Amino acid sequence: MSRTATRTARAIHQVARPDGMPTAEQFAFVDDELPPLTEGSALVENAYLSVDPYMLGSMEGGEGGWELNAPLEGRSVGRVVESRSAALPVGATVIHRQGWRTHAVVTRADVRVLPDLPGVPLSAFLGVLGGTGLSAYVGLTRIARLAPGEDLFVSAAAGGVGTAAGQLARLLGARRVIGSAGSPAKTAFLTEQLGFDAAFDYHDGPVADLLTAAAPDGIDVYLDNVGGDHLAAAIGAMRDFGRIAWCGAIAQYTTEPPAAPHNLFELVGRSIRLEGFLVRNHMDAQEELYELLAPHLRSGRVISPKTVLDGFDRTVDAFLGVLTGANTGKMLVRL
Ligand SMILES: NC(=O)c1ccc[n+]([C@@H]2O[C@H](COP(=O)([O-])OP(=O)(O)OC[C@H]3O[C@@H](n4cnc5c(N)ncnc54)[C@H](OP(=O)(O)O)[C@@H]3O)[C@@H](O)[C@H]2O)c1
Repeated sequence: MSRTATRTARAIHQVARPDGMPTAEQFAFVDDELPPLTEGSALVENAYLSVDPYMLGSMEGGEGGWELNAPLEGRSVGRVVESRSAALPVGATVIHRQGWRTHAVVTRADVRVLPDLPGVPLSAFLGVLGGTGLSAYVGLTRIARLAPGEDLFVSAAAGGVGTAAGQLARLLGARRVIGSAGSPAKTAFLTEQLGFDAAFDYHDGPVADLLTAAAPDGIDVYLDNVGGDHLAAAIGAMRDFGRIAWCGAIAQYTTEPPAAPHNLFELVGRSIRLEGFLVRNHMDAQEELYELLAPHLRSGRVISPKTVLDGFDRTVDAFLGVLTGANTGKMLVRL
């Protein structure tokens, strides 16, 4: 790209608030004027955009919510194409939070400069190495403290966090890894390609029954991405001193929250610990994750599964798709 080629970015604004499941009409594609490069700033051309379920909460407004008719936020990896910052040379690859647009003007403080990890694809920095993988890593190591020989259940197992969790659990020495997902193709992917010991489609019956069949001896750790009936089922299947790392509750993001699990009091009888967490409070674990996973990504023992929609104009489709299960692995947009 020439020095003067790009002075506008194609961007997506939110023009109306969702009430339940969002729709494409609540977004608009616009041309945003980019600020001029000043000393210390650089122009980044985004290569991949991340779309994530948590974004729905920001779109709904309220405290900390996103403004209407304004640029949206989201993680993106891109390359510096023009620079007035010695710390951000042209060609550097960076991750930053100005997603939902084709280009962004950033400073060094706005970005993480990506390490050069030969053999690791750029998209992995938004997948198993990104906030998605880090959520799984933090949930398993810091919150649930999964120990070698223990049995794990993870829900939304074929998604970004779930596929990272299953593979990380193996590296951490888990005995059995069990997952739930929303289709036979996804459960086959988990058992045939990702090394899960068992997987079930949660549409096939009451989750408690399906989990009992998949884990007849119970579980030690549950990484919860779904909430609702999955959480109740996991409590029911949990052994004494089990741990639940509560990462998300996608079953209630577009509907009224269900009542608390009917069997919550079982936490007391079996000394079970349930703890919620936000990955943003654990960013200090990022380097640890790179170090752990880089050699395994190179050798192919660990993969960063992804569903990629091509073209910036597919961004809204990708976001709506991640809420409805259109993805296997991390949902990404490639520009
Ligand atoms: N605490 C944190 O800091 C943190 C950070 C990142 C993510 N999260 C949470 O982690 C979870 C997974 O996030 P992700 O980015 O990896 O997304 P993801 O799992 O890649 O995508 C979401 C998946 O949820 C499943 N799903 C949708 N509706 C469902 C329902 N009613 N019941 C069961 N499953 C349903 C869909 O797969 P199926 O086809 O299997 O239904 C969909 O693919 C989300 O709850 C997210 O909010 C939390």
